[in-house]
Amino acid sequence: MDRAAPLPDPELTAVLSGIDIVLSEPQDNLSENILSRCQALKMVAQRAVGYDNVDLDYCNRSGILLSNTPGVLDNATADLAFSLLLCAARRIVEADRYVRAGLWHGFESDLLLGREISGKTLGIVGLGRIGEAMARRAWGFGLKIIYCRSDHKNSGTTEFELDEKDRRLAQSLGARRVSMEDLLRESDFISLHCPLKKETTNLIGAAELALMKNGCILVNTARGKVVEEKALVEAVTKGKIIAALDVFAQEPTVPPPLLNSPNTVLAPHIGSATDETRFAMAELAVNAVLQVLQGGLPANLVNPQIFESTVNKL
Ligand code: GLV
Repeated sequence: MDRAAPLPDPELTAVLSGIDIVLSEPQDNLSENILSRCQALKMVAQRAVGYDNVDLDYCNRSGILLSNTPGVLDNATADLAFSLLLCAARRIVEADRYVRAGLWHGFESDLLLGREISGKTLGIVGLGRIGEAMARRAWGFGLKIIYCRSDHKNSGTTEFELDEKDRRLAQSLGARRVSMEDLLRESDFISLHCPLKKETTNLIGAAELALMKNGCILVNTARGKVVEEKALVEAVTKGKIIAALDVFAQEPTVPPPLLNSPNTVLAPHIGSATDETRFAMAELAVNAVLQVLQGGLPANLVNPQIFESTVNKL
């Protein structure tokens, strides 16, 4: 089976029919429509930290356990996000093409001038494990760090109360928590690290892109749908922002204007793609299955509240 391409729904349903446990990945569309036709299914072990491709509500209602792979891919993903930022700021992809095309005829003092990283402000949207790993890298490169993160207590308002985590990040990395609006206005570079949920779908749309500084570099290694792709295409085409993207709204489709723009750096969803990390993710996913089969509750179960009522059916 070609695991690179998303399986069309009928084929996916056929593959899953009669299966008790599936090891899935982000390209597998495990929507209610599909899951409801897989009556035998009792566990989805997602080999990824994000599980927006799986209908969690349906899993909860139907007694399907869902596990993911948090923690083991933070460094690899933050490395890629930071690499994309450097590639965009220092025009590394363009420079590579220039050399390969035989255009280099010697040192020129204004050849491929890029932008200095240190001293600039990086805005991080979402300060979970990966966002924090990104902040550590930014600190090492001498960036000023601002960030915003979801705050359930104060959701729906622009006000927030600083908590222990904010105080720790301020002390260790000089990172300052700000509102989303301040982050959009103040950042020279923005990196997205929030999960895709109802509340974060199209979090960055035309209005948010308009608030960004001209020439802001927007890095996305989270999920394509966190950004409204039509608005993104327009902002890139107009030269309002530079986009450094590892994820897209309809993977593996990349809108042609993004492919053809000099204002983009593109990667094919490889945030966690190192030998070590992909192995660790597979191990975590398989171990969750083995643990459940032995009656144990894995720490990486997304819906532990249905464990007791489901585990004895396996
Ligand atoms: C990859 O995209 C992941 O969510 O782990």
